[in-house]
Amino acid sequence: MRLSSPKMNIIFRACNKASKSLIRDFGEIEKLQVSSKGPGDFVSAADKRSEKIIIEELLKADPKCGVLSEEIGEINKDNKDNRWIIDPIDGTLNFLNGIPQFAISIGYEDKGEMVCGVIFDPIKDEMFFAEKGNGAFLNNSRIRVSNKKKLRDSILVTGGPKFNSKIRSNIFDEYVKISNSVDAPIRKFGSASLDIANVACGRFDGYWQRELNYWDIAAGIIILKEAGGFVDFIDQNEKNSLKKNILATNSIIHKELMDTLVKKNIE
Ligand code: IPD
Ligand code: CA
Ligand code: CA
Repeated sequence: MRLSSPKMNIIFRACNKASKSLIRDFGEIEKLQVSSKGPGDFVSAADKRSEKIIIEELLKADPKCGVLSEEIGEINKDNKDNRWIIDPIDGTLNFLNGIPQFAISIGYEDKGEMVCGVIFDPIKDEMFFAEKGNGAFLNNSRIRVSNKKKLRDSILVTGGPKFNSKIRSNIFDEYVKISNSVDAPIRKFGSASLDIANVACGRFDGYWQRELNYWDIAAGIIILKEAGGFVDFIDQNEKNSLKKNILATNSIIHKELMDTLVKKNIE
């Protein structure tokens, strides 16, 4: 089964088109790594190429729709009702180093609510997607979160802190605290969108991370919800609504993980 509303078809088309360009560019990375210049500028161009293709496709259907995209920022800023939220490459550091763990993430907001989204890993050819009320899918199969009941038995994933984070040591303290609450070592894969997608399909039981941007996790919100998971934002930055500290789980371990996180005085 596959969702095929007009909105979803637009996102699929944009994703498929951009992914061709990304796969081609990813194939060049190995050569650039041994060159004296390195792949930095090339990757930033690849990011922009992917973004351009996505935005062109999305706006073809509705040129007045709002856009918030990582590289270019906002388009049709006044449209507060409908908005695309785009991360053209989520997992840039992986991409830059030839590590095949990155994704295109596209979410669609209707009056501020995330109502459909796609996270596409072009290397593994895994497309995670969901539309409000219609369940979540990975390629042609319906997905659901795991059934893990205890935090201690859970497989968790996280990311960060960023190099220039002002709360680096707090984030590490929190990491140690959570590590001591689970038996399995915490995973770190370097792509926030895929981290949530992997909670949605039951590979991980929970994911938390501070200092994310909205576009890292926008599509993931609806995909996880439709897969039966739960998303919370903790210690919300009142001055900047695009900055997010996320807790995303299979629902069952949510409270236990939330209670274990250091919630107060971290920022
Ligand atoms: C990054 C990835 C990474 C997360 C960073 C993000 P980018 O996005 O999602 O997993 O730890 O905080 O900035 O820069 O690769 O699009
Ligand atoms: Ca990102
Ligand atoms: Ca990005």
